[in-house]
Amino acid sequence: MRLIQAGVGGFGNSWIYTVRDTPGFEHVALVDPSPAALANAGEIAGVPPERRFASIDDALSAIDADGLIDCTPAACHYDTTCTALRAGLHVLAEKPLSESLQKAELMVRTAKQCGRTLMVTQQFRYHDQPRLLRKLIAENQIGAVDHVAVEFQIQGLLFGWRKTMSQPFLMDMAIHHFDLMRYLLNANAVRVQAHTWNPRISNTAGDMNAFVWIEFDNGVHVNYTGSFAAPGTDTGWNGRWAITGDTGSLVWNPRDDWGPVRIFRQKQDLSVYTEQHFFSPLPEPWGEALWADSIGPNGHQYDLYHWKACSESGAEPETSGRDNLNTLALTLAAVESAETGRPVDVAQFPAIPAKLQELQAQLVG
Ligand SMILES: NC(=O)c1ccc[n+]([C@@H]2O[C@H](COP(=O)([O-])OP(=O)(O)OC[C@H]3O[C@@H](n4cnc5c(N)ncnc54)[C@H](O)[C@@H]3O)[C@@H](O)[C@H]2O)c1
Repeated sequence: MRLIQAGVGGFGNSWIYTVRDTPGFEHVALVDPSPAALANAGEIAGVPPERRFASIDDALSAIDADGLIDCTPAACHYDTTCTALRAGLHVLAEKPLSESLQKAELMVRTAKQCGRTLMVTQQFRYHDQPRLLRKLIAENQIGAVDHVAVEFQIQGLLFGWRKTMSQPFLMDMAIHHFDLMRYLLNANAVRVQAHTWNPRISNTAGDMNAFVWIEFDNGVHVNYTGSFAAPGTDTGWNGRWAITGDTGSLVWNPRDDWGPVRIFRQKQDLSVYTEQHFFSPLPEPWGEALWADSIGPNGHQYDLYHWKACSESGAEPETSGRDNLNTLALTLAAVESAETGRPVDVAQFPAIPAKLQELQAQLVG
């Protein structure tokens, strides 16, 4: 697949390496207004100076390509992605799809009108352990899920445009965990209440800490605690997950590793509960270890292969732009809740003209 990549500084670098190292994909042009970023990425990707451009329009008028990776800042996604879609390219856009739900909706409509595939890189779900967790939940291994606790802590020193965002943590980081919740629970959020603040140790103007409570449309309650300003308390990028159902619990990533998922099956007579928590120390490690099968290429490589397969077959990607409106709506509803101090009904979220479900129905097919 012949790719143009827009935005090659910052995180764009990781895409430069991923495309270079993934068979079946090649960079045919790079776009970035920064000459230094272009020169650096061009050298790594092996893209000569005559195929490095300052604007997407210049690249599209000079180079034939099949797809665009949009790794520009979120505020640029609407223009960059729609321009490429209209020029006949499929687009793999970085999260958040846009900083506004209206613009994101227009991007999805543009892709549909142009008959092109628009996918969002929510690569957290494209790893072995989340795939296993979702399967275990779907198999009812812990009964119907009742509640989920997610804890995320990292020192996320932020630079550039993120330093002045009002909600950098929710918009830039928590959106990955919100998408993962939707994926694992196979559900969409109906209501969210968020409280955010900026701890004194943070290096940004906006809020780097969040307590978020979310109710999903299958009745599951999620309690999410996140901090992007917690040096020395690193949970890893995925965070720690504890998922409790009617007959047991699943725990993932308790020690910032990619090791097994652990399952605890509650005995009906509660004997295991009694033993573990009242009369004897917790066995280490806790629960039964379940190792996930490999899904093969994962993360960004999974993104690339899935996007290519869908572009060729016309199938809708798992993290299509349309599907991702739900993740973006949850994220923006959390922002709204944090800023108003009130719970927000995600499906009725006022940032879009139609109810989200009606909009989704229009965009299917
Ligand atoms: N999926 C992930 O895990 C992940 C991680 C980090 C960032 N991101 C996302 O990647 C995107 C970029 O973030 P970043 O950290 O690289 O930002 P950045 O500011 O570090 O880099 C953005 C680059 O885009 C360039 N750029 C700006 N406007 C442009 C335009 N109109 N056309 C082409 N290039 C343009 C800038 O010069 C810069 O080199 C954001 O949407 C961000 O949320 C995703």
